[in-house]
Amino acid sequence: MNDALAQIRDAALQAMDEAGDPAALKAVEQRYLGKKGELTQQLRSLGSLPAEQRPAFGKAVNELKSELATRLAERETEVKGAVLAAMLSGASFDPTEPGEEFVTGVMHPITRITYELVDLFHGLGFRWLDGPDVELEYYNFDALNTPPDHPSRESQDTFWLDDGNLLRTHTSPVQVRAMERFGAPIQCVVPGRCFRNEAVDASHEHTFYQMEGLMVDREISVAHLIYTMKTCLREILHRDIEVRLRPGFFPFVEPGFELDVNCPFCAGNGCKTCKQSGWIEMLPCGMVHPHVLRSGGLDPDEWTGFAFGLGLQRLVMVRYGISDIRDFTGGDLRFLEQFQTV
Ligand code: PHE
Repeated sequence: MNDALAQIRDAALQAMDEAGDPAALKAVEQRYLGKKGELTQQLRSLGSLPAEQRPAFGKAVNELKSELATRLAERETEVKGAVLAAMLSGASFDPTEPGEEFVTGVMHPITRITYELVDLFHGLGFRWLDGPDVELEYYNFDALNTPPDHPSRESQDTFWLDDGNLLRTHTSPVQVRAMERFGAPIQCVVPGRCFRNEAVDASHEHTFYQMEGLMVDREISVAHLIYTMKTCLREILHRDIEVRLRPGFFPFVEPGFELDVNCPFCAGNGCKTCKQSGWIEMLPCGMVHPHVLRSGGLDPDEWTGFAFGLGLQRLVMVRYGISDIRDFTGGDLRFLEQFQTV
């Protein structure tokens, strides 16, 4: 090592020892090891040396470089430790002071209830399936026993796309998709977005969330349906509930029902929310129509099943006493943050 290098070495090591904080160390690093640092400059001078001295000089510079880098890393660890120790022992450190508050996000109430429901049904042996938002007319209507001239198509006016497909009006199309794909027996739930061409008000949205449920097996009866619905609603609404079935019409179930629960706001005594009836409408359901089983490739003499369509906004509204469906997509943080701890 020549004199110049030896001097650089001594100066650099001394500067590292003297640097007492990470910023000072960084400056030392730049001065000696940086792109424009002293060692780089030494290497540049290589060309002006006699050819026979060049290899030895180059080697010496590189060795010095790695020696300094090693020492620098050691010093970094030492300095950081010293800074921390000073902080912890210093009079200014107060371990009882509250930490800095940080904001965490919360799950949207629809996402939350979806996870809860899927979890619950998983425990009952239902698998979680998904279907497309953009659906074929066939699956949304025809396969569900709803031919083009059927009057019930009118109550499910939707957004048609130029290619003849549509935005699905319900999650029911996945009933047939599921039967086609997995056959029977099958138990599945299908949470997802649905769309209708509707005027928006406190209880109607053009985009909303449903969860379809389907169970097909041998000798499935209305009793299975009632048991499943009661179990689900009891868990979600956190209370013991009564249910009642009223006849309801949907082309893809026979018989079809509207399932009501006793009003959570007045315990069935009658109030404004339940219009004094003591019951509130919870979900449509029924026994899968033989035509639908056939659409799914199943023999209705062998298989029977039930299906239900749970409106997820509605369920959340009943659970928390929310009165306006538009709050879910309004983006108002004051609404969403209420679900922080529940
Ligand atoms: N798909 C129906 C709707 O959205 C609800 C439903 C589902 C009814 C399953 C019966 C059985 O209106």
